Amino acid sequence: MTIRAVVAGVGHYLPERVVPNTEFEKTLETTDEWIRARSGIERRHFAAEGETTSGMAANAARAALKDAGLEPADVDAIVLATSTADLTFPSAATMVQAELGMTNGFAFDVQAVCAGFVYALSNANALILSGQARRVMVIGAETFSRIMDWTDRSTCVLFGDGAGAVLLEARDSGGTPADRGILSTDLNSDGRHRDLLYVDGGVSTGTTGHLRMQGNQVFRHAVEKLASTATTAMEKAGVSAEEVDWIVPHQANIRIIQGTAKKLGLPMENVVVTVQDHGNTSAASIPLALSVGRDRGQIKPGDLIVTEAIGGGLAWGAVVLRW
Ligand code: UT7
Repeated sequence: MTIRAVVAGVGHYLPERVVPNTEFEKTLETTDEWIRARSGIERRHFAAEGETTSGMAANAARAALKDAGLEPADVDAIVLATSTADLTFPSAATMVQAELGMTNGFAFDVQAVCAGFVYALSNANALILSGQARRVMVIGAETFSRIMDWTDRSTCVLFGDGAGAVLLEARDSGGTPADRGILSTDLNSDGRHRDLLYVDGGVSTGTTGHLRMQGNQVFRHAVEKLASTATTAMEKAGVSAEEVDWIVPHQANIRIIQGTAKKLGLPMENVVVTVQDHGNTSAASIPLALSVGRDRGQIKPGDLIVTEAIGGGLAWGAVVLRW
């Protein structure tokens, strides 16, 4: 008998304020047409004043708990992927733990920027497979609006805020690719590329800083590395691309999403796309897409899913799971 980390519930939270591309035309030399054509983004949500990453994460976690029919006390651990924690420390995950009224278990953040949710899923899977936890709330939550340089048109039009959560549960399984749950993970990073995407603040500067990106350079790495990690993860899982029901990619740019799907030999009909509505929400983008994809009726129990993401570091990876 094999233990698998199986999705028992999913949920998301998006801040109320929706900002269309046209809003940026008022303050920047940009157009709705440029943003749509180059990124596929049409609108994004921005957190309200006082709204925090941990608060949004807790809302997403509550939705996932409700979906699973479980209580906070049923959860052993919270793993929260974020690069925009409320404070330098404590972790946003412990703030979520407190907000949920959870006094048991343990909670920590994972920081792998846009690849954060894939890293968090992999870590949560390891906690479950090693018997350290039976139920893990895996969250991706970000308030990237707080680290935007609003005068930099090459970055500030691309990002958004939000949170998504997936509750993983240990279940006895057959040990085959037909099992529900996480079938494989593949993580990679290469710190030589740190200058391509970073925030120019932190404890070394005493400031929060702003996001800086050489977008076209990141783009150059993205399709190749995403297709490669997805292929490796599928090989590890013992599944082929033809068997995949859904690619649920990191939602940074529709052209990266299309290029990766093409490289994997899958049509766009098999890809969950939310970038038009959310923009790039970094570590929140995959759990948001999983939750929205489920709510749309795209993702159904038993579906074979490949998630893949790349971001600052560079850090990238993929997870294969059966819903
Ligand atoms: O999630 C983490 C990983 N991040 C990503 O995956 C992002 C990857 N990169 C991208 O998505 C794309 O590179 C961007 C959407 C950021 C940019 O698209 P691009 O096709 O790579 O354009 P570019 O950066 O090569 O810029 C083309 C032109 C430049 O003008 P010149 O030098 O050709 O005259 C930019 O100055 O577009 C200009 N530009 C803009 N024009 C209007 C840049 N931003 C804007 C803008 N509005 N907002």
